[in-house]
Amino acid sequence: MDNRTMNDRKRQLEVLPDLAALVARALEQVMAVAEEAIAQRGQFTLALAGGSTPKPLYGAIAQQNLPWDAVHVFWGDERYVPASHPDSNEGMARQAWLDQVPIPPSNIHAMPTDEADPALAAERYDATLHRFFGTTAGDFPALDLILLGMGDDGHTASLFPHTTALQVRDRLITVGNKDGQPRLTFTAPFINQARHVLFLVAGENKQPALSHVFAPDDDAALYPSRLIQPQGSLTWLLDAAAGRSLP
Ligand code: 6PG
Repeated sequence: MDNRTMNDRKRQLEVLPDLAALVARALEQVMAVAEEAIAQRGQFTLALAGGSTPKPLYGAIAQQNLPWDAVHVFWGDERYVPASHPDSNEGMARQAWLDQVPIPPSNIHAMPTDEADPALAAERYDATLHRFFGTTAGDFPALDLILLGMGDDGHTASLFPHTTALQVRDRLITVGNKDGQPRLTFTAPFINQARHVLFLVAGENKQPALSHVFAPDDDAALYPSRLIQPQGSLTWLLDAAAGRSLP
């Protein structure tokens, strides 16, 4: 396994030979955080990434023997479609994982996409998170783990380049925008509150954006993944195709 680890105490970059190895390493990390969280706080709170890369990881988690009643699942972003829609991040995670395990339905905290106005849905999910964590507006509760992907334009969650969502700093959830299509998304400050953030990035097409995200100085408005600087640990897991050009 080709591991190049950055020297920062809580910053880790690992380049794995292929997607299967990346998924295996990600599973190790998810299970380690889950074990720590349940031992220390009696529950494991994690937010899922959408897209295609994490799907095999969700299938692998479904095979694990976790205390499912202690696991609470949120989503870091969602396309503004019903769960039955092929683009739905909720639908993908249910099909790949959540429908395969005896997790209490009340532990699955999906983003609402049934409001005519996505801003109202964002407010509802913001309230759902504050209610769950016992916090109020202006607080930023810490999830145990946030899984993230990165698009070939450097976006993460639904924080897309040069969109207003990048400027939102006073709440947990906001409305993202991809080519005019609304999304719901965690805000950057909420992501940065997490105890652990784990990026899963695979494929040759991610190389150019990664070089900008990892550059010492570049434009976060153009490469929003640069905004993710959590106070907790930050781990990037790349496959060789994505990580080839990194110094
Ligand atoms: C989404 C995701 C998004 C995704 C990246 C990478 O809703 O699409 O949350 O941020 O993680 O676009 O997607 P892939 O893993 O499919 O490359």
